Amino acid sequence: MATQEETFKKIVAHCKEYGFVFPSSEIYDGLAAVYDYGQNGVELKNNIKRYWWDSMTLLHENIVGIDAAIFMHPTVWKASGHVDAFNDPLIDNRDSKKRYRADVLIEEQLAKIEDKIQKEIDKARKRFGDAFDEAQFRSTNVRVMEHQAHLDALHQRYSDAMNKMDLAELKQIIVDEEIVCPISGTRNWTDVRQFNLMFSTEMGSTADGAMRVYLRPETAQGIFVNYLNVQKTGRMKLPFGIAQIGKAFRNEIVARQFIFRMREFEQMEMQFFIKPGTELDWFEHWKQFRLRWHKALGLGDDKYRFHDHEKLAHYANAATDIEFQMPFGFKEVEGIHSRTNFDLSQHAKYSGKKIEYFDPETNTSYTPYVIETSIGVDRMFLSILCGAYREEALEGGDTRVVLGLPPVLAPVKACVMPLVRKDGLPEKAREIQDLLKFDFKTTYDEKDSIGKRYRRQDAIGTPFCITVDHDTLTDGSVTIRYRDSMEQDRVKIDDLHEIIRKATDMKVLFRKLMNA
Ligand code: GAP
Repeated sequence: MATQEETFKKIVAHCKEYGFVFPSSEIYDGLAAVYDYGQNGVELKNNIKRYWWDSMTLLHENIVGIDAAIFMHPTVWKASGHVDAFNDPLIDNRDSKKRYRADVLIEEQLAKIEDKIQKEIDKARKRFGDAFDEAQFRSTNVRVMEHQAHLDALHQRYSDAMNKMDLAELKQIIVDEEIVCPISGTRNWTDVRQFNLMFSTEMGSTADGAMRVYLRPETAQGIFVNYLNVQKTGRMKLPFGIAQIGKAFRNEIVARQFIFRMREFEQMEMQFFIKPGTELDWFEHWKQFRLRWHKALGLGDDKYRFHDHEKLAHYANAATDIEFQMPFGFKEVEGIHSRTNFDLSQHAKYSGKKIEYFDPETNTSYTPYVIETSIGVDRMFLSILCGAYREEALEGGDTRVVLGLPPVLAPVKACVMPLVRKDGLPEKAREIQDLLKFDFKTTYDEKDSIGKRYRRQDAIGTPFCITVDHDTLTDGSVTIRYRDSMEQDRVKIDDLHEIIRKATDMKVLFRKLMNA
């Protein structure tokens, strides 16, 4: 049995081998935490985006989309708080010259203590078998109790330091916990200091007086600054939402775990503008809707969980993450935040414009509150790959790697294959592909044995393989082979379109979403 870490390495290698994700500028040895999507990756990514976009703008009459520019007026980021507060606490090791996030070093230390507790429990469970009572063991075993007390105290100290952003205390925790640099093995640390995550560049020539502009670190601000434009031109009535998909940039220091934390990534964000006082109901509504959206893909309900935030940003009155079970643990894929009227009020203050809503029902004007749903396309992509990747042992000792992708998201829906490369079979196969290609992404493959061709399609998650043989020429039927069961059926060419449509139609998911 492969460990989770080995499985993750295999998924990363698989992504490269089958044209899903490549390191950026690879011939120049890559660029840290920046990736390119290949021929299959871009199809999967586009399908994810389509699933999200349509679930927002088709299913909800009161949600419209926009596409704002990446560059925005620099004051936007002053108003939003990103210039002053979008920081990571960093620390350097003087011997290795490596830079770390102080919070991550401490979180790793917390995880180590948790591991120690778990090891004691696993050992005891083995020793006592069925009679083992975990709760009793936790409350009586001296070693476990010591570790737990250490864990609780450290947790408390760390939360306090982070809440106050007390950089000296963060450093002191690292010193007291005797945390060493994983590279040099030493404790020769610098002080902790703040590091802003926004990338900046200059706009205009210096002679004109160049202006420092930022690459947006989130797409949401493009929505807030267009609230009035959309509300007025679309004659939108509260509650209504604005959706956007686009690139965001963060100068992440700890950029790890492949496409989980990138420096250039894509977000799908929706800001839902509502009447003040209704925010907790709408927060609950969007929490449930977004979880259903994830679960409808069928990767397994137990792979998702909410992680409600205990400590909230000063402008939020509720926040949760939807986490997915990655090979490296449950990790945030999406955030749902109740942001009050913070952003619109800040933009009103900094721009000097009145940003309000006139409510015809109450004859009053007010600044709307906002519920935000914010998901990273790349993290969603990674969660789907991790949920779909499997190695299966086959009869006869063979194995196959299959991506059990939700058929609606699969990059290729069907591969058409002539059994042999002669006797008019390739021509017939091309004819069948022509019948399907206006509605579905299809491919054609005539190279190698049928078995090898099936494996190639399994590896990219193609739900259907269609084989054309000599009988096809006379009886107008083909063999269709299903990716997951590997079963084969003989079906009429005329029925192919409907079989593929039924399995890959997003409408089926949308009905599930709306009828739940
Ligand atoms: N507007 C709110 C916002 O940006 P966030 O929690 O910072 O909130 C939202 O980001 C989502 O964007 C995350 O849940 C994650 O999916 C994605 N995301 C954030 N930083 C990322 C990074 N460095 N690489 C990939 N995805 C990232």
